[in-house]
Amino acid sequence: MKGIILAGGSGTRLSPSTNCINKHLLAVYDKPMIYYPLSILMLSGIKEIMIISTPEDISRFEKLLGDGSSLGISLHYKSQEEPNGIPEAFIVGEEFIGKDNVTLILGDNIFYGQGLTNILRKAVRNHKGATIFGYRVKDPSRFGVVEFDEERKVVSIEEKPEDPKSDFAVTGLYVYDNRVVKIAKKLNFSARGELEITDVNKKYLEDGQLGVELLGRGFAWLDAGTHESLFESSEFIKNIEQRQGFKIACIEEIAFYMGYISKHQLYEAGESMKKNDYGQYLMEIANRKHVQQYWDKIDQNPGLGLIENE
Ligand code: DAU
Repeated sequence: MKGIILAGGSGTRLSPSTNCINKHLLAVYDKPMIYYPLSILMLSGIKEIMIISTPEDISRFEKLLGDGSSLGISLHYKSQEEPNGIPEAFIVGEEFIGKDNVTLILGDNIFYGQGLTNILRKAVRNHKGATIFGYRVKDPSRFGVVEFDEERKVVSIEEKPEDPKSDFAVTGLYVYDNRVVKIAKKLNFSARGELEITDVNKKYLEDGQLGVELLGRGFAWLDAGTHESLFESSEFIKNIEQRQGFKIACIEEIAFYMGYISKHQLYEAGESMKKNDYGQYLMEIANRKHVQQYWDKIDQNPGLGLIENE
């Protein structure tokens, strides 16, 4: 399974903040926004990941994350010439995807919740057709909306409907089989001039191959795409991190617990940022004694909070 993070777009909803910096490099509390989707792909066990962004910005992501070797993963970069729509990720990433299945995550989506890693790993492992994730929201018209019948079978899926048929938004996390590349190539532009991910999902639905996992009220799903939601996301992460003393979406910590990097590498990553809380946190984890026990616990009962108490 390959992974793609889509981190381009025009970012106009966040201007002037994004006039000269890509939205996904802005901080959500104590780390860049892109760390959040990257952490989700890492936690699902995906090690080969492509970041797609604009031609102007792609080198900045490369500067931030490098080739992934410091995280024990492999990172690839490619630009999307114009923000032609989310499914273009599969056309831009065609060569990278090759014959594999692919999980796509939008760069401004933040997921948090106990058990999410399990759900994802299961979806990634047994993959056939498409799996999307539904989440109940107050304002479904802002999103793709999925409608179910009484047996929880998907009846329809619509992009930003004026009159939504349910309260379930489709989140920006999608797991597809390799057919998605062909499907993306055959799409037509929508009335708003974009290739729509909802049209990809509709095609899988027509073919009887669309699965929807519902994320319950114990999960948080935030998209940090407006000033309001960016601020709320930062506040949310800050509150949880300060209360628990654990970091959310700390990619070096995840790499360590996944067994991708050594204690020594984790310590060194921390030392390079030792003047701040993030670096000190990494050094502290590297210095803990019973690290494997944490990981065993996470594996049995995983969640994005990551680590149970000592
Ligand atoms: O967040 C979930 C929603 O994401 C889904 O419910 C919708 O079905 C889906 O269409 C999408 O809606 P948005 O209006 O939020 O999409 P937006 O245009 O804001 O783009 C989402 C992210 O993808 C954003 O981080 C920018 C990036 N992007 C977007 C487009 C259209 C690209 O990198 N390239 C693109 O061409």
